[in-house]
Amino acid sequence: MRASPLFGPSRRQVLRGAGAAAVATLLPRRFAAAARPAPVRIGLLLPYSGTYAMLGTAITDGLKLRLAEAGETLAGRPVDYIAVDSEASPPQAPQNTRKLVVRDRVDFLVGPVHSGVALAMAQIVAARGGPIMIIPNAGANALTRELCARNVFRASFSNWQTGYPCGKVMADDGHRRIVTITWRYAAGDEIMGGGAEHFEALGGRVDKHIRVPFPDVSFQPHLSEIAALAPDAVFAFFSGGGAVQFVRDYAAAGLKDRIPLYGPGFLTEGVAAAQGAAADGIRSTLHYVDDLDLPANRRFRDAYRLAYGREADVFAVQGYDTGTLIVQAMAAVDGDTAAVADIARALEGARLDDSPRGPWRMSPAHNPVQTFYLRDVQEGRHRFLGIAAEALADPAIGCALG
Ligand code: BEZ
Repeated sequence: MRASPLFGPSRRQVLRGAGAAAVATLLPRRFAAAARPAPVRIGLLLPYSGTYAMLGTAITDGLKLRLAEAGETLAGRPVDYIAVDSEASPPQAPQNTRKLVVRDRVDFLVGPVHSGVALAMAQIVAARGGPIMIIPNAGANALTRELCARNVFRASFSNWQTGYPCGKVMADDGHRRIVTITWRYAAGDEIMGGGAEHFEALGGRVDKHIRVPFPDVSFQPHLSEIAALAPDAVFAFFSGGGAVQFVRDYAAAGLKDRIPLYGPGFLTEGVAAAQGAAADGIRSTLHYVDDLDLPANRRFRDAYRLAYGREADVFAVQGYDTGTLIVQAMAAVDGDTAAVADIARALEGARLDDSPRGPWRMSPAHNPVQTFYLRDVQEGRHRFLGIAAEALADPAIGCALG
């Protein structure tokens, strides 16, 4: 691993040393003669500053936990991480992508969090035919629809998938008129679009779509407008630092007890403790919930807490599952990172039966087919309330793969 202020010495490195020693005795014969097999280079283009910094850190930690569990080796080769701060900035994405792909010649490109950054990255990587890009968060629908590509995979969700189930939750809760509020960019528009589509199909009406520039947190004028419109409910997407501010401001404006707040789970995920009582009772849909009663989830949460001293969240799960995809793919090609087409074929057939989020599989368009849960927040923790959508696949409109 390269020296980086992001990844200081820790229990993880102790773990890694022990794992590497154990695995050294199991190296495939063709690597045995060489002093040290060439490392597999994993490039991380994730936000380590700004409103999404905590998401980037959780993804990185989840990925590293999974590779530590694999003994820090992939089919006998050690792992080298090269991390670049995306700053969640689409204008910087082309330069950052080329830095990792052309200068550092990474074997796997992992990133990003922000949909706009992902659209720029994926177009460069798809046009070059390599390396393999695994998206551990960004949900831009087009990435696994009209812009889908042989070497681009997603370990997270499409934006549509996270909003669509919540439209039914709001309708089932008896609401007829809602207002949506989010940042103005692909993720905001598409998540709100998925929820509105389902809500309207069930007879609901969206009175207004309020859009705030990313990553602004000046919510006051918009909250006054919501109070004046007096809808039955508000459907909102913010995440990270922006979500902390929005949920607190919503309660401080006196709206919490008058107009119920709903969202994709990102609205409270990873930040419910920081939001405090303002988050209590918020209902959301997401492909993960803290207290999922699965052995794989309990094991993962315990290992994450032990390694990092924090609770895991959906972003950590997505990083962890990205690690599982890389482990599976490298095993399928016996460590041959030049076999990009074979790696892609292995990822196309990926099934993660032991994921902390529950079993999921890769769709022909390279997006997870997965279950979405209905959850709420109670005293800073997310609680499982039921299944909102079983094995939900993105419609993948316009993708010719598969
Ligand atoms: C996105 O930009 O795709 C995104 C960012 C944070 C949470 C969810 C989606």
